[in-house]
Amino acid sequence: AAKTGPPAKKKKNRDFVQRMREMDKNVIIFYGSQTGTAEDYASRLAKEGTQRFGLRTMTVDVEDCDMTLLDVFPSDCIAFFCMATYGEGEPTDDAVEFWEMITSENPEFSTGVAAEEKPLQSLRYVVFALGNSTYEIFNAVGRTVDDKLTEFGARRIGNRGEGDDDGSLEEDFLGWKEDMWKAVCDVMGIDQNAIHASARVPAYKITELESFDPEKVYYGEHSEQALMANGYQTYDAKNPYAAPIHNSRELFKIQERNCVHLEMDITGSGITYQSGDHCAIWPINPEQDVYRILHVLGLWEKRDTVIMVESTDPSATKKYPFPVPTTYATIFRNYLDIHTTTSRQFIGTLAQYVPTEEARAKLTSLGEDKEAYRVQVADAHLTLGELLEHISPGGKPLDTIPLDLIIESLPRLQLRYYSISSSPKATPNSIHLTATVLSYNPPTAPHKTVYGLATNYLLQVHRKLRNIQHPETAPFYLYSGPRNKFHDESNNIIRLALHVRRTNFKLPSNPKTPIVMVGPGTGVAPFRGFVIERTYLKSEGVDVGDTVLFYGCRRRNEDFLYEEEFEEYFKILGDKGKLITAFSREREHKVYVQHRLREQKEYIWDLLRNRGGYFYVCGDAKNMARDVNSCLIQIAQECGGMDSGSATNYVKDLRNQNKYQEDVWS
Ligand code: 2AM
Repeated sequence: AAKTGPPAKKKKNRDFVQRMREMDKNVIIFYGSQTGTAEDYASRLAKEGTQRFGLRTMTVDVEDCDMTLLDVFPSDCIAFFCMATYGEGEPTDDAVEFWEMITSENPEFSTGVAAEEKPLQSLRYVVFALGNSTYEIFNAVGRTVDDKLTEFGARRIGNRGEGDDDGSLEEDFLGWKEDMWKAVCDVMGIDQNAIHASARVPAYKITELESFDPEKVYYGEHSEQALMANGYQTYDAKNPYAAPIHNSRELFKIQERNCVHLEMDITGSGITYQSGDHCAIWPINPEQDVYRILHVLGLWEKRDTVIMVESTDPSATKKYPFPVPTTYATIFRNYLDIHTTTSRQFIGTLAQYVPTEEARAKLTSLGEDKEAYRVQVADAHLTLGELLEHISPGGKPLDTIPLDLIIESLPRLQLRYYSISSSPKATPNSIHLTATVLSYNPPTAPHKTVYGLATNYLLQVHRKLRNIQHPETAPFYLYSGPRNKFHDESNNIIRLALHVRRTNFKLPSNPKTPIVMVGPGTGVAPFRGFVIERTYLKSEGVDVGDTVLFYGCRRRNEDFLYEEEFEEYFKILGDKGKLITAFSREREHKVYVQHRLREQKEYIWDLLRNRGGYFYVCGDAKNMARDVNSCLIQIAQECGGMDSGSATNYVKDLRNQNKYQEDVWS
């Protein structure tokens, strides 16, 4: 993956052994993280190790380390690996180099000892693997790293932790870590109980600034470059580009549900993309949530006070938790995820800081009772602000809760990836996104509506731009106050913080190669880009191959995305194009894309088997993508006369040859 930061960043000292020695650390926590989750867990492990057991911990991104030095790892220290798996069993962008090294046939470590001679004998390590069981290869990266380290002579401490982002990540983590810490304490000769009692040391020092340079205060920017805003820049996860939205529209024809189409202007940014790439978006918290939490913490009056937040650990690898100096309001609006469900562990910790016995008892029981937590907090998606509001006596602010604890415990607001729905051939200076807006009523709290953060943010951005008044905007206000980089109210310009991430989901290089695309719902997004690209080529006189799109939605007159547009495109493609639709809720029985695939089996088979066609699937990973995979295996049996084993292998081979590509999410 292409991720090249500005040159200054590359000067980091990659010799982590030396850094550990200089800073007198005995635990290093490596993380490989795509959107920040693995990084958050790494920080939590670091803090817990320090606070509960007196370990001297540090966290580092594997990308910033020369991992060939693992063979000279100090034998009195421990390494933790918090490794996320991304997509179909792939390493995260920052872990690619380490992954390639550790999975290569004969990895070269610093002393040159061959892998079969077990060069990692001095290494003792802990693994927490993060992934999503919806995907075919669950936790491939964490598991493989674990196996490889052991294979090369290292010794794992405790069991490998495995977190499943498909629902139980937090509980998986909590359920794993106690035994892991026991094992760590054993090998480090630490008496767990002795240290456990020691008081909490604040992780961050927060200072209200009286004098500061107003130009250097962060109001939601994610990087220093954004403040300076000059010269050529590379935009990536650490430095997004604030792109103005120059067009937007609603795609559904009904009122009850929404799907927004947004077009961002990247003129002059130097950003380029290909159809099939992803675009990352940084959402902003709804103003209601910001208001609620500032109130309940007693910070509302001083919301605009400029503050400095820095780590109290002078040797911390991350000196600042987010860009500083900033304001109380900005922290909650742009940098912390206050929209997330409050974690059980955090609730337990909070109990010590609330002012009344009643509130303490309530929090303690929620922290300990998994079932009560599930019903009252997890299923009801209770945010920290809502939880604290419930327990604040007479609605008084709970100013006994230290802000540093909140900063330490809440996850950072994370970016979200979307499949780009445009083609650079047609619109090189514009990136289009297609987002179905998520909201639902939790079964345990039917009167509450839970709003998906990023998609509702995008919906409100669209409404604001188009000046659409909607009674339901109430639950999700956009900040529009002063010093707002993302929303210039007077000129009605709204910007989205974004960057492009390259993917392998790509059109065949030869435009004559036939393609079969399966993309129900928002899964159609990248295929709009593909179809536009082929249309563009065709109108330039290029000979394009069969271009077949299977699209599914509920009803033609409700949620058919880009219906009129597709009509135009397929007119241009003529006999080379086929749009085949499946409307699932127009009949008594469900009609899905895979039913249509079966109806067209001879044609599909001919394209794939005889004409070198490519097969693409985008959308829901859990059911749709699996069903489509099985459907293709069946087609191979029925049309190719294969038995089930060879049909399965045939489809696997297609995948290995990159002729079956997936862009799926859960
Ligand atoms: P449904 O919601 O009526 O069940 C986009 O979400 C479309 O994909 C909808 O028409 C939806 O139908 C359909 N869909 C749901 N599950 C599916 C599956 N397993 N395979 C294919 N399409 C599916």
